Amino acid sequence: MLKTQINVGLLGLGTIGTGVVKVFQQNADIVRQRTGIEMRLTRIADLDTKTDRGVSLPDGVLTNDADAVLTDPNIDIVIELIGGYKPALQFILKAIENGKHIVTANKALMAVHGQEIIAAAGRAKVDVMFEAAVGGGIPVISAINENLCANRFSTVLGILNGTCNFILTKMTDEGSDFVPVLAEAQRLGYAEADPTFDIEGVDTAHKITLLSELCFGTRIDFDQVYTEGITKISAVDIDFATQMGYKIKLLAIGKLSDGVVEVRVHPTMIPVSFQLADVDGVFNAVRLSGDFLGPVMLYGSGAGMNATASAVMGNVMSIGRNICHGSAGRTPIMGYCQDQIIDLPLRPMSEIISRFYLRFTTLDQTGVLAKISTILGQHDISIQSMIQPESHAADSVPIVLMTHEAREVDIVNALEEIGRLDIIQQPTRLIRVVDDLD
Ligand code: HSE
Repeated sequence: MLKTQINVGLLGLGTIGTGVVKVFQQNADIVRQRTGIEMRLTRIADLDTKTDRGVSLPDGVLTNDADAVLTDPNIDIVIELIGGYKPALQFILKAIENGKHIVTANKALMAVHGQEIIAAAGRAKVDVMFEAAVGGGIPVISAINENLCANRFSTVLGILNGTCNFILTKMTDEGSDFVPVLAEAQRLGYAEADPTFDIEGVDTAHKITLLSELCFGTRIDFDQVYTEGITKISAVDIDFATQMGYKIKLLAIGKLSDGVVEVRVHPTMIPVSFQLADVDGVFNAVRLSGDFLGPVMLYGSGAGMNATASAVMGNVMSIGRNICHGSAGRTPIMGYCQDQIIDLPLRPMSEIISRFYLRFTTLDQTGVLAKISTILGQHDISIQSMIQPESHAADSVPIVLMTHEAREVDIVNALEEIGRLDIIQQPTRLIRVVDDLD
């Protein structure tokens, strides 16, 4: 044993930070029993030192000066819970320069600036852990990096944003509208400070970028990840999906086949019989497929104070153990030895193969269906099924088609051509369908 007391500093006393304080206070005995270490939260920095967060802190612990954490020679581990890029990146780099190990929940930062942080950590020989960045309390990163690390992964996919899943679930179960449900998610503390990141799929894209990197041993350029959120999902599409035996989920998909990586985020129709279709509300799930393991699904609270604080504290305890046993750097930050990480090509979205749900809004005229199906046929797109409900609207009717597997580029080109027909009244809605999980 090199050390029996570890001092921890915290940057950001928001919802998750407050949860971390509670774990330190309520589970100090568990922490000691499981690590043999006296873990102390000695300094917390936040610009707001006045708001009552419902936790009591000893005098002198809370400060509005981040440097009091970053440069304190007695602090071993810095927890970053500020979120966003600035000043979180500068703070983390400064902490690393000062020899501190890092625990962060910052998926945006790790997905976009991870390389810079990892390089700095390598030079300083410190650990960086970010379990809370993906799936809230679900231990998916440690599962990939530790217990499942003997596998070659082919797929990692899941429901990774609690806010979106909460919204889609309420819209499905209660027929509610998008806007009030989003406000409720924000009130409950699930949504990011800027909910655009949640509902436009950006938060999910950050998470699947990290999971794909961890699973496939590659670097993903976040800007190249196809990202489509849930803001255009309407009650009408949810209703048609239900009639066809599907649920709409914001799915994050990472795949590796023939040396090419596919990473994308979009609303997806999945059969109600899938386990993933039962992941409702704020819950998240990640499904991994490894060559020896086969499929495994991890399920749990994907957001919120306590679940996320649990993941943060788990990392703090792991690093504490590493410090005490002189084994910092034992597990590579991105799961693969740094010199083994390679840049695999990313499949362009135009090349993906999927089935598609298409909802056209057309004039109720003779020959409409023939015109649409002719163009689809010319682009190599075969129709699998169709719904045309009787409509009492004078001027427009919905036509819903489900295609067989088709290439995205063919669908895009066909829809562009169909969109130029004068029978089309509104932009056509497209939702990708996943019926097969590897
Ligand atoms: N806003 C995120 C979510 C929090 O809704 O899942 C956890 O990353």
